[in-house]
Amino acid sequence: MQQWDKIKEEGLAIIRHADNLSRIEQVRIDLLGKKGQIQDLMKQMKDLDNHQKPLFGKMVNELKQLFEEEISIKKNELEETKILTDLKKDQIDISLDGDDALVAQLHPLTIVQKEVESIFMNMGYQIVEGPEVELDLYNFERANIPMNHPARDMQDTFYIDLQWLLRTHTTAIQTRVLETKANNLPIKVICPGKTYRRDDDDATHSHQFTQMEGLVVGEGINLADLKGTLEMMVKKLFGESRTIRLRPSYFQFTEPSMEVDVSCFNCNGLGCHICKKTGWIEILGAGMVHPKVLEMAGIDFRKYSGFAFGMGVERVAMLKYGIDDIRNFYLNDMRFLSNFDRFE
Ligand code: PHE
Repeated sequence: MQQWDKIKEEGLAIIRHADNLSRIEQVRIDLLGKKGQIQDLMKQMKDLDNHQKPLFGKMVNELKQLFEEEISIKKNELEETKILTDLKKDQIDISLDGDDALVAQLHPLTIVQKEVESIFMNMGYQIVEGPEVELDLYNFERANIPMNHPARDMQDTFYIDLQWLLRTHTTAIQTRVLETKANNLPIKVICPGKTYRRDDDDATHSHQFTQMEGLVVGEGINLADLKGTLEMMVKKLFGESRTIRLRPSYFQFTEPSMEVDVSCFNCNGLGCHICKKTGWIEILGAGMVHPKVLEMAGIDFRKYSGFAFGMGVERVAMLKYGIDDIRNFYLNDMRFLSNFDRFE
């Protein structure tokens, strides 16, 4: 009996001292497993007298039950403790400062483009886009720049093959619109888009840039309409006190052609570094659509006339925001890009 109590006390002590789940599992195997203590006791049965066997068996069973219960209690306890310590370890301190999320803002070129679009949409213009990989036909031929004409040199071109190229100006959209709307006049469109030329990139040149072109074709459209339209746009873009100046220029697809200057918004025409002391800043190419261009699109140039203008969005954005290097638009540096107001 003494030995019995010893086995019992020792067993309970081992259970009590188990301090983690793998330890209690080991204890279970040692006490209750196939080669465990209870099994050892069972094996001793065969050496007992028959009359002693039932009592011994009962006692072993009771001991087994006791161990089972105690192990199960201990195991629950340890599981509980483990859950609590794990929870503590994985706890998230919700009072800690998080990383600032980057809030998306519109790219400055998008802001300017949307601003121009909105100015013209308010005057009833439609926005039309076109393919960047363009046919020579629409980029040059229909713009009255035939093959081998020296005017092609003005626009160093990325050719894909003899027929296909990366459009060098949004005038390619203009010639497409003229064709599709030839029998559905008048036309009043703004054509924004990416354009490409084989320029060496520097502070003011980029092989990929953005243009916006305006085109109006209808009966009785004249130069005064063009001038009034551009004056209106310039005042909306750069401020009510701005004026414009038209200078004669040359484009194959317009006649007459002109370069459009805006009075310097920095010095008000007095002369400063932005206008290079001239008081004027060049921002647009424009002109009356060449009769040949209308004719090639299937429009009767005796009855209809039109004007067109085109500008570089980068240039306008650089002037508007005082940016001195065109490459900033394409570097995707968030420190630069997050400086511009959202377009409302
Ligand atoms: N396509 C001309 C250019 O890229 C700009 C322009 C457009 C000029 C429309 C006149 C009329 O330089």
